[in-house]
Amino acid sequence: MARRSHRLFARWYPKAAASLEDRGLGEQRARLLAGLSGRVLEVGSGHGANFTHYPGAVTELVAVEPEEAMRELGRERAEELGLKAVVLDGQAEQLAFENDSFDAVVCTLVLCSVEDQARALAEVHRVLKPGGRLVLLEHVGSANRNIRAFEYLFDVVLWSHVFGGCHTSRDTGAALTAAGFDTAGLAPERLPFLPYPLKVSPHLAGEARKPA
Ligand SMILES: C[S@@+](CC[C@H](N)C(=O)[O-])C[C@H]1O[C@@H](n2cnc3c(N)ncnc32)[C@H](O)[C@@H]1O
Repeated sequence: MARRSHRLFARWYPKAAASLEDRGLGEQRARLLAGLSGRVLEVGSGHGANFTHYPGAVTELVAVEPEEAMRELGRERAEELGLKAVVLDGQAEQLAFENDSFDAVVCTLVLCSVEDQARALAEVHRVLKPGGRLVLLEHVGSANRNIRAFEYLFDVVLWSHVFGGCHTSRDTGAALTAAGFDTAGLAPERLPFLPYPLKVSPHLAGEARKPA
């Protein structure tokens, strides 16, 4: 599947995001990833901000990242950390892995940016083992219909173009349910340390399960 590249975003995002790690994002990541074990796939791994937080019980880490500049930074990060991670070119909508082959999949701040969210979630569901979990941290659209309509317009006119295809208006919770995930393990979160408008966006954090 052809994908629009966001090279400029890939250059500035790692530096801009670094300042958020100490202001709460790093803690969020650590909490989310702490319980992982076995064979794990991270989708849209960016510059590898999650890599520091994978526990030793993760026996194999495979990461997929479509932007070359981000991928290179991710590989460097893994090397610095002495992490045996494979960072591959790829995209969520077309995962080059076998069915039922991962214990867990990780997506942080990615499902807002994939071009085809339904297709990406179908792929994540396919590669997860039955009972496997999708661990995620994602900002989602407002529950208020009027605000959501504004977010949609904002995305179309400005936000998505500047922020690497990101959308503020997505109903990711509903998309997860439609894709067959059990979302009981997801909770709403507020991340006030993020820049506007994401600081006022609701977030979903936790795990969505593929039924056993
Ligand atoms: C906001 S950044 C988040 C990066 C990283 N996950 C983090 O937590 O810092 C969004 C990431 O999603 C990636 N991305 C965008 N579209 C994607 C797709 N279709 N499949 C996989 N990754 C994608 C981008 O290249 C970028 O690395």
